[in-house]
Amino acid sequence: MRTSDRKWVYAFENGDGRNKMLLGGKGANLCEMTRIGLNVPPGFVITTEGCLAYLEDAQRRLPDGVMDEVRAHMRALEQKTGKKFGGSDDPLLVSVRSGSAMSMPGMMDTILNLGLNETTLAALIRRTGNERFGYDAWRRFIQLFGKVALGVPDHAFDEQFDAVKARVGVKQDVMLGPDDLRDIGDRFLKVVQQHTGHPFPSDPYEQLEIAIKAVFNSWMGKRAIDYRREFKITPAMANGTAVNVVTMVFGNMGNDSATGVGFTRNPATGENQLYGEYLTNAQGEDVVAGIRTPKPIADLATEMPAIYTQLVDLRNRLERHYREVQDFEFTIEQGRLWMLQVRVGKRTPQAALRMALDMAEDPEFPLGREEAVRRIIDQMRVSVPDMIKQAERTVGERDRIVAQANEEASRIIQLAREQATDMVEHDELAEAARKRANELLAEAEREAASMRSEADKYALNSLSGLAEQVTKLQREVENGMRALTGE
Ligand SMILES: Nc1ncnc2c1ncn2[C@@H]1O[C@H](COP(=O)(O)OP(=O)(O)OP(=O)(O)O)[C@@H](O)[C@H]1O
Ligand SMILES: [Mg+2]
Repeated sequence: MRTSDRKWVYAFENGDGRNKMLLGGKGANLCEMTRIGLNVPPGFVITTEGCLAYLEDAQRRLPDGVMDEVRAHMRALEQKTGKKFGGSDDPLLVSVRSGSAMSMPGMMDTILNLGLNETTLAALIRRTGNERFGYDAWRRFIQLFGKVALGVPDHAFDEQFDAVKARVGVKQDVMLGPDDLRDIGDRFLKVVQQHTGHPFPSDPYEQLEIAIKAVFNSWMGKRAIDYRREFKITPAMANGTAVNVVTMVFGNMGNDSATGVGFTRNPATGENQLYGEYLTNAQGEDVVAGIRTPKPIADLATEMPAIYTQLVDLRNRLERHYREVQDFEFTIEQGRLWMLQVRVGKRTPQAALRMALDMAEDPEFPLGREEAVRRIIDQMRVSVPDMIKQAERTVGERDRIVAQANEEASRIIQLAREQATDMVEHDELAEAARKRANELLAEAEREAASMRSEADKYALNSLSGLAEQVTKLQREVENGMRALTGE
């Protein structure tokens, strides 16, 4: 399939937001958000077809034409941003992100800050006047690229990181100064040289090509294959990963910058309110990595009121457009809000019901009653079997504990018997033996009985909890149906 007449790359403003098979879910939604006028950093998608063609080639070469198109699209990014890839004045940096038609959270790879090298790093520091920020971006890039694209194990980097922290005498990353971070960058470069036998690639286009291939390869990585098997994702549902190349925006450029994740409604309860969390002065991965404790999104209303208003507006636009709860990633760079991802939000069955009802009842919301009813029925179709499975597990657990109690009892009875026989052989102790044996038997019975009742209590508790949940759901569904059908 080494054809060169095919189109492999779509700019965000040109990709078809409905075509997740071709552009992946992340890519399609980045295109869609761009099209409806949300603030998405400029970027482009390399198609899943490119991935499949690449993986089919025994020599693992990118199909003809891919890199030519990529170069043309990079030039377009340079025009849109006024920055230059590899530039020594205002350098353009990008992320290279995976994303297939089905959401496979965290299963494939993403590289941030690509395009950094000695020259662009110096320029970045000069332009921002922020050494710490520059060296921090640099060491993150070397580690991510080293791990994902060059196969250097994380521990090799972590050892160097820890060594520097120990030398400085601090426990937390945030306590490291610019010189420490520069030292870490230097050490990381040596790690890469040692593990690969080559110096870290400094040509941005070489970095980009290696990164694209690495993301394509991650489709066939063990994690991704196992995930597809477990969740029964067939090639008809998702085939290959797209690559999204996205202009970098930075949530770690000071206290007017932040990064976070949000849900358009509360995914646990369904409450009709913006929900999520964020970290001030941090990069995207810090929120997930749990290095610092994020703040609830409501805090933004006081910390950055203008941004909060934009987020609420954004939430309404996202929901009206997608007509379903969305979860999204955003970054605030020096007071400007950027959208980095959106997808249908995962939610509990209760939340799903409440959301469908609220949406149907809201005259402004573009969801008809009939469709709401269908959503509720679909939801019940999924959650009822889930609950039955959970009940079966509970009963199974009770049986396991009872079996364990019986085993324990017979072990003690056996022990009593052995001790009794022992003692009977010494005739004068026969009486004492009988007594001891009886004691042990009584103990065994007590033990078994208490374990059985423990097991019953456990099963009863879980089952009644479950029953409560089912009744609640049932009630909500009945109320909902009544409201919807106007009876
Ligand atoms: N151009 C960019 N500028 C700033 N942050 C970015 C950029 N691209 C990605 N990120 C952030 O980097 C993190 C990882 O990116 P990405 O969304 O590709 O992978 P993931 O969230 O780990 O997995 P998933 O594939 O499930 O989304 C996210 O927090 C994302 O918001
Ligand atoms: Mg993501």
